[in-house]
Amino acid sequence: MKLFIDSAILSEIQEVYDFGIIDGVTTNPSLLHKAKEAMEGKVDLAGYLKKILETAKGTPVSLEVTETSEAKMVSEGKKLFKRFNPVANNVWIKIPVHTSVQEGQANTDGIRAIKQLAEVGIPVNCTLVFTPEQALLAAKAGATVVSPFAGRIDDYIRTNHDVEFKKSDYYPAMGWQDNQHTLEDNGIVSGVELVKQCKRLLDSYGLRTGVLAASLRNPRQVREAALVGADIATIPYPVITELLKHPKTVEGMKAFMKDVVPEYKKL
Ligand code: G3P
Repeated sequence: MKLFIDSAILSEIQEVYDFGIIDGVTTNPSLLHKAKEAMEGKVDLAGYLKKILETAKGTPVSLEVTETSEAKMVSEGKKLFKRFNPVANNVWIKIPVHTSVQEGQANTDGIRAIKQLAEVGIPVNCTLVFTPEQALLAAKAGATVVSPFAGRIDDYIRTNHDVEFKKSDYYPAMGWQDNQHTLEDNGIVSGVELVKQCKRLLDSYGLRTGVLAASLRNPRQVREAALVGADIATIPYPVITELLKHPKTVEGMKAFMKDVVPEYKKL
């Protein structure tokens, strides 16, 4: 599984790329907003994005559109690609699976925009995916990857069933048991289950679109996304820093360091 960092904060991106094992970057308007806040607004955004692209050279960086109609998303996607792809040849354009803000509605602008961008060879990351069928339509439109939002579907299931939680709380991949019923959203019992179903569906029909597990909140969820076959996991910086931790590793290191035979060091 490839590991992306889900961040628009340059220092975080630089730090994790230094490990030598990061395969890409995902940004979105909220992450850019956070990055801008961290810099107290003092930023030349174009220059800043270029630095992110250069840091990630050789690996993709998703830049999301902000428009909501088919025509404007296509034009913004093409504009972003034309301006920023020459920096390091690594831009993917992120398009929401649909852009309706009306409860219970779904327009086809996202799918149409994906199709148009894919047809001119622009790689598309289809975002805000919450059902396998959304993933199917995006894949048929030619998306390079689809991004199921694992953590947010867990939030949705918990909120709909009045279960209190903190954002980083683990949510069982097998679903939450309540009075012998498993809580679910339309047959999806957890974010990891959503990732799994998207992957199974796309693989079943030989669709070449990858599944990028997004909205991951804790190391166990990253592990579970990997175990169900996600092609990519995009992970926030604080969660990346948690991935290596285990108290027994610390304990073992302390014991090994204490026991080192001096002659061995001199070998
Ligand atoms: O990649 C999507 C991600 O940024 C959303 O994460 O934790 O806000 O649901 P979250």
